[in-house]
Amino acid sequence: MKILGIETSCDETGVAIIDANIKTKELKILSNVVASSLALHSKTGGIIPNIAAREQVKYMIPVIKEALSSTRGVDVQNPAGSIDVIAVTVGPGLIGSLLVGVETARTLAYVLKKPIVPVNHLIGHIYANFIRANPKSEILNPKLNAKRYTLNANIEFPLITLVVSGGHTDLVLMEKHGSIHWLGGTRDDAAGEAFDKIGRLLGIPYPAGAEIEKFAKNGNPKAFSFPRPMIGSKDYDFSFSGLKTAVLRETLKNKNEKFSQRYIQDISASSQQAIIDVLVSKTIKAAQQYKVRSILLGGGVAANQKLRDEFQLKIENLKLKIPFFCPEKRLCTDNAAMIASAAFFNGKQEDWRNIIANPELYFE
Ligand code: KG4
Ligand code: ZN
Repeated sequence: MKILGIETSCDETGVAIIDANIKTKELKILSNVVASSLALHSKTGGIIPNIAAREQVKYMIPVIKEALSSTRGVDVQNPAGSIDVIAVTVGPGLIGSLLVGVETARTLAYVLKKPIVPVNHLIGHIYANFIRANPKSEILNPKLNAKRYTLNANIEFPLITLVVSGGHTDLVLMEKHGSIHWLGGTRDDAAGEAFDKIGRLLGIPYPAGAEIEKFAKNGNPKAFSFPRPMIGSKDYDFSFSGLKTAVLRETLKNKNEKFSQRYIQDISASSQQAIIDVLVSKTIKAAQQYKVRSILLGGGVAANQKLRDEFQLKIENLKLKIPFFCPEKRLCTDNAAMIASAAFFNGKQEDWRNIIANPELYFE
């Protein structure tokens, strides 16, 4: 079964074609094209919604063409012969951006006479885990157990997922496909947003997560004792705005000087460690409380190698026999392959008339 996925919730225009084996439940990515208007937003320190939407309009058709033409066995002139279903992100996200993908999907479905599966973007991030990982595309940390790259077939329910992106920090429990319980989330900034705002204080262009990770590699995580907000609270909520304020207070002490490389590295390492400590601690606590059989990570921040390593280390140190999964790094940030994957495992086919964008969509 071939699924054409479309993702346009924010500043990425993604189209992917995946081949899903209904019997074995294995997914193969045939093409996964992502165009981004990120460069246009890096100077302004955040996404400007109307610019993102206009760029979606520009990229949408070229990205579809690229995805179709780079997939063997798909006839670009007659895609109806090879595509079975269309999957599209319907929310949450920016309304202008979402509408471009949703209306494109509806038009394609109407013309090609195919059903549509509407997909929640956040559930898409979870389902990036269910796409067969290519161990060669990951750099393994030799100190850690390589088992974490186990194939998707080994993901067992019930499971806990931490979704950490630029807009969301959510902890969810899944009993089976389609059964999702939200346990908690951020009360203010998302984890990715914390990286981005701290980056801004340090003069790092938006989005700053990957750059902070690089600086942190040469920094001292103990150089500054930043707060770990809500790390001991009884609920599964998060809060990162206090951490950002603590970093702001620190940087204001040196506001008249150009920050040294060493200073940027130490702030990066110390703030990254604070974010990681909270994320790992709360997720592991939930995994123990709900006696889950798998722990999954998803969303742009899941691309952070230190976060991945610390999860694995904590699980090993506590001798928890719970396997830990994270998507291939290229599948952590927004893409359409994860949307097609969510549609396969977790979606319901609909007529194009029933598909509407919902920027406020949530888990339950
Ligand atoms: O999932 P995503 O692509 O978009 C949203 O749905 O929000 O996530 C983007 C976020 C940004 O905040 C970015 O700074 C963060 O993911 N991010 C990272 C890394 N790569 C991306 N954060 C920490 N470490 C990384 N390596
Ligand atoms: Zn996302």
